[in-house]
Amino acid sequence: MAKRKILIFPNASLRRKAERVVKITDRTRKLAEDMLETMYDAPGIGLAGPQVGVMQRIFVMDCSPKDGDADPRVFIDPELVWESDEVEKREEGCLSFPGQFADVFRPAKVVATFLDIDGDPKEEEFEGIHARCVQHEIDHLNGKLFIDHVSLVKRQLIKRKLAKEMQERRERK
Ligand code: NI
Repeated sequence: MAKRKILIFPNASLRRKAERVVKITDRTRKLAEDMLETMYDAPGIGLAGPQVGVMQRIFVMDCSPKDGDADPRVFIDPELVWESDEVEKREEGCLSFPGQFADVFRPAKVVATFLDIDGDPKEEEFEGIHARCVQHEIDHLNGKLFIDHVSLVKRQLIKRKLAKEMQERRERK
């Protein structure tokens, strides 16, 4: 396994739409392993292809509780096929926005179809943090980011704070 570099906003790749994978190869499996390693190292609970500069419709996640067993998941060519009318407010962050968080409203439950790492088609319902993460990561595959779900004022604030944070990190080096 190898760790990959996580792209930080406003990297242009984060705004591009990713392509379907369709055929899962050894390269896909290697990519998934690398993405999981990169996500755990960050640490984060989800990571999508475009965040490591790979414009493929793949994401990894692990929303298991910190004191529980790890639950590494790989989603290939995921599609949301249903979302609840009920929405829920939750704080979100993103590995492409280090140190930034915002409350985001999204459907509380969703059903997604996807291929697992063996290429088997799955359909699964998600709720709570899992539903949140699945929606956030599928957004990434469409070039959409969590800041697109908040007010313009809040978005500008996050952009400014992130720029400042990254500047400080560079100066610390
Ligand atoms: Ni993200």
